[in-house]
Amino acid sequence: MNIMKKQSWYISENEVTDESLFNKRRDFLKLGAAALVSSSLVAEKLAAVETTPRKALSFKKTSFGRGLELNSFDQASTYNNFYEFSLNKKDPAKLAHTLKPSPWEVEVSGEVENPMYIDLQEIMNKYPLEERIYRFRCVEGWSMVVPWIGITLAHILKKAKPTSKAKYVKFITELDPEMFPDQKRGIFGNVPYPYVEGLRMDEAMNDLTFMAVGMYGKVLPNQNGAPIRLVVPWKYGFKSIKSIVSIELVEEEPLNTWKEINSREYGFYANVNPKVDHPRWSQAKERKLGSFFKHKTEMFNGYSEEVASMYKGMDLRKLY
Ligand code: MTE
Repeated sequence: MNIMKKQSWYISENEVTDESLFNKRRDFLKLGAAALVSSSLVAEKLAAVETTPRKALSFKKTSFGRGLELNSFDQASTYNNFYEFSLNKKDPAKLAHTLKPSPWEVEVSGEVENPMYIDLQEIMNKYPLEERIYRFRCVEGWSMVVPWIGITLAHILKKAKPTSKAKYVKFITELDPEMFPDQKRGIFGNVPYPYVEGLRMDEAMNDLTFMAVGMYGKVLPNQNGAPIRLVVPWKYGFKSIKSIVSIELVEEEPLNTWKEINSREYGFYANVNPKVDHPRWSQAKERKLGSFFKHKTEMFNGYSEEVASMYKGMDLRKLY
């Protein structure tokens, strides 16, 4: 679906993650935009991106997603769902400067032999970071293709050594109303905070399940979930919880935020499935950010080969 036929003008975006090329292209775009358009909207958009310099990361490139056509950094970082800031998709890019991604620790606890705190600087500097290009599909019907940088969740879980009682993993976003303005509103906020998500143990250990600390060659912009977020590419985007401070291994299925808000419309598994419509809209198609036309949504967002076997025997038409 997202694998597009290469045109003669196509520049592999894999190369764009190379620091110098990425910057050169951006300079070129800025110049071009300034010459062609004096629209304050364009200037404002570019300024918003430029005023938040991000630290470059060293990472290994992988073959994940090779051939997929990337969305631009601008598209992926200015259209966000991050309710701790706002319900409006354009707002997080403007408001997320209150998030302080450093210092930051993630607690790994619960049913593990080796409970621990992981310092984010340690992940950035000592862990073998890799880049993976994944499709990302929101339950609302939009999608994007993003080059994430990070490590597998399995890498972290293996260090913590899950006990035999560990059946699920529960993730929690930082609760700090100074950083996240919508948390100040308490029960009048957009969602019950802190934001919680969960995975079954086999899903958590699947090689696709990724903890991202960066995108497009550099650390995550705050609005995309700095300093560390989950990315589960075969599930609807709300499973990919941002700004994580706790990873807890538990015996019972955790109640995830969107299931808590509306269990008639959102489940725990939330696997991308074009045949199961949302009660209020079809999931058969999606619109990739920046595209005019919609294209067909694929089962498990195109990752059936890697994940379908985990759901054998489950009725996938059911909203779990
Ligand atoms: N995590 C937290 N803590 N708060 C949120 O509001 N929104 C989710 C998910 N993770 C959300 C979150 C939803 S609905 C989506 S679609 C994705 O983040 C959006 O990720 P993006 O902004 O990087 O595209």
